Order: sequence, then structure tokens, then C-alpha cells
Amino acid sequence: MAPDLARTCLACVEISSYGLPSASRAFGRIRRPWFIFTQTLSRNGIDGRMNDSTLDIVTGGAGFIGSHLVDRLIAAGRRVRVIDNFSNGAERNLVQHQGNAQLEVVKADIGDKAAVQGLFEGAERVFHLAALADIVPSINEPEAYFRANVDGTFNVLEGAKAAGVKRFLYAASSSCYGIADAVPTPETASISPQYPYALTKYLGEELVMHWAKVYQLPAVSLRLFNVFGPRARTSGTYGAVFGVFLAQIKAGKPVTIVGDGTQTRDFTFVADVVSAFIRAAESDRAGQIYNVGSGGTYSVNRLVELLGAKETVHIPKRPGEPDVTFADTGKISRELDWHAEISFEEGCRVMLEHIAYWENAPVWTVDKIAEATRDWFKYLGKE
Ligand SMILES: NC(=O)c1ccc[n+]([C@@H]2O[C@H](COP(=O)([O-])OP(=O)(O)OC[C@H]3O[C@@H](n4cnc5c(N)ncnc54)[C@H](O)[C@@H]3O)[C@@H](O)[C@H]2O)c1
Repeated sequence: MAPDLARTCLACVEISSYGLPSASRAFGRIRRPWFIFTQTLSRNGIDGRMNDSTLDIVTGGAGFIGSHLVDRLIAAGRRVRVIDNFSNGAERNLVQHQGNAQLEVVKADIGDKAAVQGLFEGAERVFHLAALADIVPSINEPEAYFRANVDGTFNVLEGAKAAGVKRFLYAASSSCYGIADAVPTPETASISPQYPYALTKYLGEELVMHWAKVYQLPAVSLRLFNVFGPRARTSGTYGAVFGVFLAQIKAGKPVTIVGDGTQTRDFTFVADVVSAFIRAAESDRAGQIYNVGSGGTYSVNRLVELLGAKETVHIPKRPGEPDVTFADTGKISRELDWHAEISFEEGCRVMLEHIAYWENAPVWTVDKIAEATRDWFKYLGKE
């Protein structure tokens, strides 16, 4: 345990050790319901209460991946400023740091340039994770996705450029490959976004690479493949498979398998993804794109088995979604010496240990999913 962390709070200490080979050591035992938020985090750095160690910005730091990244940075003794509008993020994801002057949380919308202006001053590194990240609703809300994921990325880039940051890390998405033309999929595969989420994340990546080229912003883009782990999104919208299944299991309802469940995904554990961000931040590579994947690909049926779901029901396969996602991680392994360490089986076990997190998450039924995906089939179901 890092000594500077010991004085923060119980949950920080527990979470601080991940990155170690064992995911259960990574998350430790939750001995009390740390997700009950009792105190409003404040912009305590802005009024001068933060100490003067180096500052990292994490946009989207109240979200799933962002909050794990915050945990790791704080554990490493960094000062962190989270910028999040809490549209999908939650205070409970950061409650383990309450009262810690190393962290400040600024509630702001990155799509609003005036709101984020000045927030990057003094930052050494920017980790840009804020985005509307649920895939399905993007079909109905392209404008909101464009504003958050494209305009928002533009505003963050401009803020980072003005502040002269030393490193800029972007959370890109493997969805840019669409139905990939090669499996495992290298970074050089064709780009073919199938829906607005994928398009807006890819446009964000193009902006980041352009800023790296034209303005010499030392930026790297990480294309993430199906990240899972504790705190995976539980927003009201129909979203990522883990959150959907765990809420269904917790409520004693059947899990809704898309298609026949033989489709496979490159499920990558969040602690490994955080390590990839750190490795990229500490490297001197710029203008580069890296896949971040687990080194394997696993079927939805295997996931159902590992989660021990008793009852299953099948729903129609969605057009525009690949049968396989599987990253070729050769480039990141060669250039950043990074590879995933936590197995799918171990990751699933950790998820089950944390199933209480999904207690109040929406429980999706076949009918509700049919309603939520109606426009998806309407627009993407055409040949
Ligand atoms: N989870 C995955 O499997 C996955 C895969 C590929 C890429 N990504 C990318 O990783 C990043 C993090 O994803 P996540 O799964 O943690 O999602 P998440 O929804 O849990 O986190 C995103 C955070 O961004 C915040 N946010 C959204 N719009 C904002 C805005 N306009 N201004 C400020 N904050 C805003 C949300 O409140 C939330 O806290 C996203 O950029 C996502 O596109 C995730």
C-alpha cells in the first residue's frame, strides 16, 4: 500500500493495489458500502487547498473506466482534477476519495467551451475519457453524441493545447472497425463505423491525431475493446452486456442473450485498461494509435456460464454488430510493453463479488429491449 494513500480512506487503500496480477487483490474486500455517497466533493484545488504535486486531468472521471483511472493516479501520488457533467457518471464511483485534497471534481459539460475554459491550466497530462458511451441510444440522439464526443473533444484539445500539457491520452473505441475486415484486428484495418456512437468516437480520434500532427500535441489514442469490471455503467439506457446481465441476475430475472450467444467479444478487464493508459502516459510516443485488448475473445454463452445465470432468453441479433471483436495487440505490446494480465474468468469472478453495485440498476426485459432498440432495427436493419 502506498503510504500517502493510507491516510485517505478505507476504500482507497483497498482499490490502490490493482495492477497486481490478481484481480481479487486488486479490488480487495469491500467491508462497508462505500458506494453510499455522503459528502459533496468540491473544487478544493481551485481555492488552493490541493497540495502542489503534478496535476492530471481526467475527463469523464466519475464514470466507469475514468473512476478506476482516478484511483490509480491518486494511489501513485498524483493530483487529479476530474471534469464530468455526471450525465452517466456517479458520485458513488469517487466516494472512496471524499475528503482527499489530492482530488477535485468539477462538474462541467465538455461540450460547452466556456464552461471548461481555464480548467486545464497547470495540468501536466490530460486523460480524455468523457463521452456519451452507450451504443444503442446513439441511433436516436446523434446530435447529443456529436456535441459530447466531437465538439467536446475539440474543446478538451483546445484547453490542453492552451495549457501546454506534456501528454494527452484519448479513449477511442474499437467500434470504429465496424464489421472488421481482419480478425484479430490490427490498427491498420479499415475504418467503418456502423452507428453514430462509433462515428463520433472516431471523429474525436481524428481530431486528436490532427492536433498531434499540426500542433505537436503529444497525444496518443487507445482503441478500447469491450471493457468490463466493477462500476461498469448502469445508466437508464440499454447498454453494455455486463451491466444488463448482472442487474438481471441480481433481480432473479432471465438474462437476455442477443442472437444465439456464439458471438465473441474481446472482454478486457478495467484494471488492465487503466495500466494501458498509464503506460501510454509514461511513454514518449505521440501521434500513435494503439489497440487495447485482452489477448482473447470470449462468447456471450461463456459469459452467461461464468456468471452462473440460471435462466436465459434469446433476443434478435442486432444488425451492424460484429460476430467477433478481437484486438491484435502486437503494436502496444511491442511499443509500450503492455499486455493484459487479468483473465476473463478471474474478471468475471470479481464482477460477481461486486454484484451488489447493480442492485438498483434498470432490469431489462425482452419487451423493454425491443422498445429501446426499435429505431436501431428500423435504420440499421435495411440491407
Ligand atoms: N466501456 C467500454 O467498453 C469502452 C470501449 C471503448 C471505448 N470506451 C470509451 O471509454 C470512455 C469511458 O467509457 P465508460 O465505459 O467509462 O463510460 P461512462 O459512461 O461510465 O463514462 C463516461 C463519463 O463521461 C461523462 N460525460 C459524458 N458526457 C459528458 C460531457 N458532455 N461533459 C462532461 N462529462 C461527460 C459521463 O458522465 C461519464 O462519467 C468513453 O470515452 C468511451 O467512449 C469505452
